[in-house]
Amino acid sequence: MRRGFFIAALLLIVMLFSQVAAAADEMLIYHWWTAGGEKEAIDALLEVYQKQNPDVTIVDNPVPGGAGVEMKAVMKSLILAGQPPSTFQVHAGAEAQLYVDNGLMDPINELWEKHGWAEVVPQDLQDLLKFNGDYYLVPVNVHRANLFFYNKKVFDEHNITPPTTIEELLEICEKLDAAGITPLALGSRYKWEAAHLFETILLASAGPEFYVDYFQGKARATDPQFIEALTVFGKLIGYGNKDHSAFTWDQAANRIMTGEAAFHNNGDWVKGYLTGAGYEAGVDFDVFVLPVGSFGLVVDGFGLPSGAPGRDATLRFLETILTPEGQQAFNPIKGSIPARSDLDDSIYDEISRKMMADLAQDTLVPSAVHGSAAPDAFMSDWTDVIHRFLYTGDVEQTARELDARAVEHGLVQ
Ligand code: BGC
Repeated sequence: MRRGFFIAALLLIVMLFSQVAAAADEMLIYHWWTAGGEKEAIDALLEVYQKQNPDVTIVDNPVPGGAGVEMKAVMKSLILAGQPPSTFQVHAGAEAQLYVDNGLMDPINELWEKHGWAEVVPQDLQDLLKFNGDYYLVPVNVHRANLFFYNKKVFDEHNITPPTTIEELLEICEKLDAAGITPLALGSRYKWEAAHLFETILLASAGPEFYVDYFQGKARATDPQFIEALTVFGKLIGYGNKDHSAFTWDQAANRIMTGEAAFHNNGDWVKGYLTGAGYEAGVDFDVFVLPVGSFGLVVDGFGLPSGAPGRDATLRFLETILTPEGQQAFNPIKGSIPARSDLDDSIYDEISRKMMADLAQDTLVPSAVHGSAAPDAFMSDWTDVIHRFLYTGDVEQTARELDARAVEHGLVQ
């Protein structure tokens, strides 16, 4: 009897122990990198990690939907249900701050100190990874939002020099349109694609100072600069394909290569997508920046959710992300540039090297559509209103609605 009890207790201990051991060696990761270029980039990073940590089982959970529109909802329900994954993709800045302010993430100062990351990650980036004096995130990359990718052959054939101002952009649209070519490849399948374009136009038309003030609640959608930006946006949309609701960002980007349109506005994940599809940067397609001198900053990060499973394995993954090996495996494929400034740039193409130079000298403007500049709940409403504008084209009404949302969300009084 006593012997039977002893064996049962021993079995129970062994079972419990093996469960804990299994959990410790498992890393459950969520991200939204499912499009061409994105998937290959995260696979390359996870491969580096797996090689360094052969004992860990990676449970990869990619959630389709560019810019994380779908994944963010999944994450909120999991975390609210008390089931956080080991780690998940989150934009640096406001988007991550929501989790931090609600006590859902643990600081990772020790990792930052141990590796001396403060010495190699630019200060402006660190400001988006640190909250109330503590580090919570490890950055994977630096993307740039305010870019236009264009078909080089189409531009050359029509003697078009890439524009440096909004006025020139609109002139090019007119020229292409007159030649029977759809100027702008537009997608709006998940709504954010249109909001991304408007964010770029707002920055280019109203300037970085107004842009920053607006997302901080110090300027309003009813201000003349904002009204002007909406007016330009309306004109530009008039030069886009009308069937935009059918297209995701990558499908829209693809249209510039099939010759169905001449250019597409998006972040440099488009470069990862196009090069992954076999097109050559600088030959088949190229890129122009608007406004020149501003760097629309998009930074993807990973952190440590409180009470998450596989904590040790996750801490080791966070370390891998910022190792030279991790950065150099991920970024050339993704179209982004590294989050460390001390790495060999010879493995990057000319476009990325230009982005590195610009990052060091331009005005850095965190993207709102990609989570860094304004609270998520406000941006979700903002995106809905901008998306509706594609159909109404009503500048005054849209400005009033956006202003009302800013008041509702407490961004302005
Ligand atoms: C992310 C990029 C991603 C893009 C499209 C952005 O929000 O920061 O890493 O490639 O969305 O999915």
